[in-house]
Amino acid sequence: MNILVTGGAGFIGANYVRLLLAGGEDRVVNFDLLTYAGNLENLAGCEDNPRYRFVRGDVRDRAAVRAVLADEKIEAVVHFAAESHVDRSVEGPEVFVLTNVLGTEILLEESRAAGVERFVMVSTDEVYGSLGREGLFVETTPLAPNSPYAASKAAADLMCRSFFKTFNFPVLTTRCSNNYGPYQFPEKLIPLMIANALEDKPLPVYGDGRNVRDWLYVQDHCTAIDLVLRRGRPGGIYNIGGCNEMQNITLVEMLVDRLGKSRDLITFVKDRPGHDQRYAIDASLISSELGWQPSVDFAAGLARTVDWYLANRDWWEKIRSGAYMEYYAKMYGDRGGATGP
Ligand code: NAD
Ligand code: DAU
Repeated sequence: MNILVTGGAGFIGANYVRLLLAGGEDRVVNFDLLTYAGNLENLAGCEDNPRYRFVRGDVRDRAAVRAVLADEKIEAVVHFAAESHVDRSVEGPEVFVLTNVLGTEILLEESRAAGVERFVMVSTDEVYGSLGREGLFVETTPLAPNSPYAASKAAADLMCRSFFKTFNFPVLTTRCSNNYGPYQFPEKLIPLMIANALEDKPLPVYGDGRNVRDWLYVQDHCTAIDLVLRRGRPGGIYNIGGCNEMQNITLVEMLVDRLGKSRDLITFVKDRPGHDQRYAIDASLISSELGWQPSVDFAAGLARTVDWYLANRDWWEKIRSGAYMEYYAKMYGDRGGATGP
């Protein structure tokens, strides 16, 4: 198949491109704008693969989308490209609407016109909102997004639904829990804590640190997406999760201990506005329908991840210099606690 991967220079997209190139015979075209989160170093070593091509482009640019679909004879689309960080969506929601909603709509329309046969929308469990102490998100849980990021993803999901219902366009939607692993941008919880700890900087935990996330190793997310692409039911929605709930504070303590640093680095700071309390996924549908199971347990995945950040210090140090520092100062400067790097 000729597969268009949007956002393939980001965290999960790059891991997915690597998965596709590691096996099979598919041709992979990575269409990415290279925003602050897109980094071609995530694909180092892939450039010379004859089955891989990078095209710099914006999913909001209809002409560019049309051209890449036609020029590359694209048969399937896996759509990762998005603004993905909740905190940034609190600071500036507009680009989330433009990229995540309008960009998805343009990609859907052009893909349909180009005769694309499979379209995977990579969505998130955040569209369901927040859970109390009990219960799990299932595919029929009503959408109740709480952040501008989550709202933009929910809107994009509904646009996908409408393309299936109205045009019978073969969209498949995945909703995954929190990912971790190599190449995650160091503003998200796990890489931020690793990098700060290695530099003996404060570790900013929001609120009381008791919010719960359900962590999944990124390669397990990628294998799930790939199964959905090849064997999923058109119009289907598939929850993906690690069955691995953890309070943020427990996770941060595990990281600190593993790195041999002092827990005194942990600093409680002002909470994220609208901070979702708990996410937890029921992944039994994808398991029973497509036979997917996560393969990396959390202790092993976290050890691998820490080792990767230790071995790839250049990668994250480069990112944490320059423009990223301005973002960091803005986001953490007024939260209280001496959290600046
Ligand atoms: P990321 O922020 O690391 O990467 C996003 C990529 O999209 C970047 O390479 C960026 O350059 C590209 N991009 C942004 N705007 C673009 C545009 N207008 N046109 C083309 N490319 C553009 O994100 P991620 O963490 O890898 O997440 C990928 C997808 O998976 C997102 O859709 C996100 O909502 C979803 N998701 C993420 C997680 C998670 O834990 N990270 C969990 C579930 C779902
Ligand atoms: O659930 C899937 C979602 O997971 C994806 O859709 C998003 O793209 C992805 O960014 C992630 O969203 P979260 O908001 O859960 O991830 P983040 O890494 O930003 O935060 C994880 C938890 O850690 C959350 O409860 C907030 C908290 N946190 C985060 C940061 C950056 C802190 O306590 N301190 C921090 O500095």
